[in-house]
Amino acid sequence: MKRIGILTAGGDTPALNATLHGAVTRANKLRVEVIGFIKGFSSLLNPRVPHVRLNPLFSTIPELDPTYGGTIIGASRDYVDGHDQKSVSEIVMRLAHLKIEGLICIGGDGTLNGMQCLSDHLPTVLAPKTIDNDLGLNYRHEPDGWQREPCAEAPGYRYVHHTAAGAFDLEQMVNYCTPGYATAVYVSAGGIQRIRTTAESHRRIAIIEVMGRHSGYLALGAAYGQPDIVLLPEHPLDVDRLVQRTVETYDLQKNAVIVCGEGVVDSQGNDLGAETVTTDPAGNKTLSGAAEAIRKILIERLGDTYFTSKRRNESAKAAIFTRKVGHTQRGGRPILFDRFYGAQLGGHAVDLLLEGNINSVSILAWNRKRGFHVASVHANDFRDRWGHIHARKMHPSFYDPHALRISRTGIEYLMPIFANALGDDDLAALRQGLFASGNLTQPYHSLNVDVNKRICFLDG
Ligand code: F6P
Repeated sequence: MKRIGILTAGGDTPALNATLHGAVTRANKLRVEVIGFIKGFSSLLNPRVPHVRLNPLFSTIPELDPTYGGTIIGASRDYVDGHDQKSVSEIVMRLAHLKIEGLICIGGDGTLNGMQCLSDHLPTVLAPKTIDNDLGLNYRHEPDGWQREPCAEAPGYRYVHHTAAGAFDLEQMVNYCTPGYATAVYVSAGGIQRIRTTAESHRRIAIIEVMGRHSGYLALGAAYGQPDIVLLPEHPLDVDRLVQRTVETYDLQKNAVIVCGEGVVDSQGNDLGAETVTTDPAGNKTLSGAAEAIRKILIERLGDTYFTSKRRNESAKAAIFTRKVGHTQRGGRPILFDRFYGAQLGGHAVDLLLEGNINSVSILAWNRKRGFHVASVHANDFRDRWGHIHARKMHPSFYDPHALRISRTGIEYLMPIFANALGDDDLAALRQGLFASGNLTQPYHSLNVDVNKRICFLDG
């Protein structure tokens, strides 16, 4: 191959530029041109195909900085619809016009689903990313456990998963974790530690919502911030137990910090946080009210006198507050773990394309002997019997539903990722970057301005 394309799809994550950088560095070595498509699949759906040459004369453009969060080529939640044959053939023609011989998509499960229809026409490889850490499998044949159950709502069935019996082994995880996850955990855990001191000082109960959709990995990782209680989507909320643990904690220390994943569900499996029926363009439910729903439950169950009788607060409403870590989890400088493995996975994706793999995924494997290393699987390994790719749920054994905390297995899962996740340069960047006097004197200069000058179009 002489020329390949690359795009970043779905929500941004901190490691996208690092992954792009790894891919381009490898391509420079192999003397392969890399064309970056602007705003993910949206570029391919546009007849003008806005794109950027990421390595003219096989040297990386200076805007591509692996330590800079987000993605210099932009991202979107536009996906190619495989049933729309017209769009698919138009895209294939556009890629042929640009002499693109293979395509790397950096994304998560939505991107892998979207890439499928193109893989019938040209070699494609996915380099993973998502802060949700939900691209992967807990064990090799996990997709076989998905079944369709009839239900009243469209499309007339819903998916249920039957977890295979047998001991869970961390070494069998397919794609142990995804670039972006470590930085998101770093931000959330730090946020939780900061909110703690307010809860302590004002005798409050803080409920902090983290992202992750229906996968609880982010909430699990937030355990590094030492919350008292963690609530995860994989374990339906047990209200009595939550109230009991909250009271035990508050009685002892006059404050409590509760972390909840945005996708937590009630005992019937209904989303607590789906306040609205809005869906995002990729078809995901917008989850925005989990922490507020839990606050409402606690206000009702604890009541005002619980707080006023000991003069610890004016009312339940005043004592219990919610905060979302929000998009700060997704933005900014990636920490060392994400930068390093993002780059490795990007580089490996180039190798996979050039070795003639079609429709495969560059993955991060882990075992006790070798630690982390890159590997690959065929995209079909992620599909259920109907061809659908599901977001990975956190394995239930990572959590102790009685203590409402991370379990021993959960701790064992996190430790290899975070033991050396922060680099000295991360701390140096913080020291030098934030309070630099230039931040006050100079207006922000967006990289988009520089990259815009490099954008080319199919029609010249
Ligand atoms: O999938 C990544 C993610 O950050 C989720 O955790 C979250 O629910 C969603 O994206 C938010 O999407 P948006 O940035 O479109 O609001």
